[in-house]
Amino acid sequence: MQEKPQKPALSEALREETYQLKAAWQRHDASFLQKYLIEDVEDPRINLQSILTRHFLMDRLFDDRYAEIMAHEIYFALTVHWLLGLLKSKRSRAAVHMQTAAVLDALLADGRDSDTAAIPPFMAEAFGTLSLPNYISELLMWVPREDDAELMPGYLLETFGHIWAETLAHEQAEPISVIEPACGSANDYRYLAGYGLGPFLDYTGLDIAEKNIVNARRQFPEVNFQVGSVYEIPAEDKTIDFCFVHDLFEHLSPEGIDRAVAEICRVTTQDVCLHFFNMDDIPQDAIRKKDGYHWNRLSSEHMQNRLDPRAVHLESRCLDTWLKSRFAYPDYHNKYAWSWWIQLQSSNPLDKIRS
Ligand SMILES: C[S@@+](CC[C@H](N)C(=O)[O-])C[C@H]1O[C@@H](n2cnc3c(N)ncnc32)[C@H](O)[C@@H]1O
Repeated sequence: MQEKPQKPALSEALREETYQLKAAWQRHDASFLQKYLIEDVEDPRINLQSILTRHFLMDRLFDDRYAEIMAHEIYFALTVHWLLGLLKSKRSRAAVHMQTAAVLDALLADGRDSDTAAIPPFMAEAFGTLSLPNYISELLMWVPREDDAELMPGYLLETFGHIWAETLAHEQAEPISVIEPACGSANDYRYLAGYGLGPFLDYTGLDIAEKNIVNARRQFPEVNFQVGSVYEIPAEDKTIDFCFVHDLFEHLSPEGIDRAVAEICRVTTQDVCLHFFNMDDIPQDAIRKKDGYHWNRLSSEHMQNRLDPRAVHLESRCLDTWLKSRFAYPDYHNKYAWSWWIQLQSSNPLDKIRS
């Protein structure tokens, strides 16, 4: 009988790096890890990459049944990002409100008499398809106050959380298995659960820092959160349907990135969704060591070379370029954020032959 190929043992260098990575992330307080990546523009309720992960999973579960709500969730996030930009500018809160009220007036007047307010094009596009009241009116009517403790109130940020939770409560679908290496303190899982996706996911969260896993288990004791490394994913070959990862590869060595890609592709049967916070259209990875781990700027071309031999279909998007070209949205906060969708297995055996 032929023996099943084993995954190669971890090299001495990657064993040492695992130790260093653990120390680098464990040095933070548990309370810091619990919230530092879900604030402001990183808040998964409005962070475009977190939204794209939820849409990636919803697409697999429900095909394109919810394409319209998904499109509006992106418009919603852009409106919030635009508003956050105003709130962080030097203007007083009263001046911000005057501007948002003027934009709403101009939208209601269908662009006529709008000398005072420039309507962002994406907002005009979305507003035209909505009836009143709607999420754009609600955001523009909100009156920020100088003494507000938070930049924006939770009830506004929760808008699509409520919409999804109500919509998905009536859904039925066969659960899919999903793994998320580098899950942090359930940073994204919180909003998979809160948005009503929990019952449809057989989810595993993996993180190298025990403090993160303790935080995650405290919030979701029934969910499978494990301490572990992406270099040695604790799963048999091709046993998990889907994988997603946010903001991990930039912190790994070149050998580590290769190993992480190999491990993810080893355990996943169908599709992978990868998000990067520091990637560019450059010919080679710019590898930088910092504070006991890495802070790289990754080459999209090099990542493509790693993934190409394993993928039957691959799509990548620089968010800034996409938002500018599709939504005329000029101010995305991170010019180096990229999202990738990788299909590992052909749904139709003929696809591979044709391509
Ligand atoms: C920048 S944070 C991103 C956390 C989360 N994905 C997010 O976007 O909010 C990087 C995470 O990767 C974890 N990590 C670092 N190296 C890892 C490895 N080799 N295997 C698994 N997790 C790792 C860290 O503990 C940390 O939680």
